[in-house]
Amino acid sequence: MKNILVIGSTGQIGSELTMLLRRTYPNGKVVAGYIRGCEPQGKLLSSGPSEEADVCNRKQIEDIVDKYDIDTIYNLAALLSATAERLPLKAWDIQMNGLINVLEVAREKKCAVFTPSSIGSFGPSTPRHNTPQDTIQRPTSMYGVTKVATELLSDYYYTKYGVDTRAVRFPGLISYTTLPGGGTTDYAVEIYYAAVQGEEFVCPIAAGTYMDMMYMPDALRAAIEIMEANPRYLKHRNAFNIASMSFEPEEIAAAIRRYIPNFRMRYEVDPVRQHIADSWPDNMDDTCARKEWGWAPSYDLDSMTQDMIKNLKIKLNK
Ligand code: SER
Repeated sequence: MKNILVIGSTGQIGSELTMLLRRTYPNGKVVAGYIRGCEPQGKLLSSGPSEEADVCNRKQIEDIVDKYDIDTIYNLAALLSATAERLPLKAWDIQMNGLINVLEVAREKKCAVFTPSSIGSFGPSTPRHNTPQDTIQRPTSMYGVTKVATELLSDYYYTKYGVDTRAVRFPGLISYTTLPGGGTTDYAVEIYYAAVQGEEFVCPIAAGTYMDMMYMPDALRAAIEIMEANPRYLKHRNAFNIASMSFEPEEIAAAIRRYIPNFRMRYEVDPVRQHIADSWPDNMDDTCARKEWGWAPSYDLDSMTQDMIKNLKIKLNK
């Protein structure tokens, strides 16, 4: 990787990944691609080039790839699961028509492509525990439908055209930098904001609902390591299960109470999010990622909780 385009650079993952890529590849150009209304600000704006890069506008993507001699595209444009249920056609447009644009440009200009998949690519007929790498993928949400199709289309462009597509299936991602929006796993971020601000947290996910989660530094490292992996050892490409922790609301609340003992939580379950969460795995088996490219997480629930609380106190002046 030398010159990189990040599509969706101001989003939940992109805002942090773009900065890490700029630190990791100081001799290359890392272009922050954005859509109108979501322009980069602050350090993201001042630390490197940025360009309007609407994933639905193939010409725009093509022009940026030419202008900066891009060799790798991180395609992070997506609507998260609950929003995609509200706006299914928009989700299809961004996730599928957008992906075809990226893959076509990558085929013509010989770029490698990372388009993340998710725990959302699984469904109610998937084995819930230790969900295998290769298993049933019959999701019931629009988000999941687009993520399975993303995996298939990305593999298709690799086998048919030799486009170097690789990806991971992200768990719910937790970070103190950029808030997610419209996801089913968002509660695991919002709970920390409430706790640090001394507020009661109203949890939209029912007690006992386990989902895979990951701290952002591990997720960012995975996104870079998979693209740097030696292709000789990759038996899979789109997309690898990666895991680090799985918990349900009571467990994350208990982890927070170790540092903020008077933290309070009550439940007001959101039926849309709960339905989605019930269809996702409890915990994925990431053996293939570990074997094929050496994946290993470094944060667990406790070390993440400590770091989140410490950094949110600084961010929120608490
Ligand atoms: N975090 C995403 C969501 O909840 C799943 O990949 O929609």
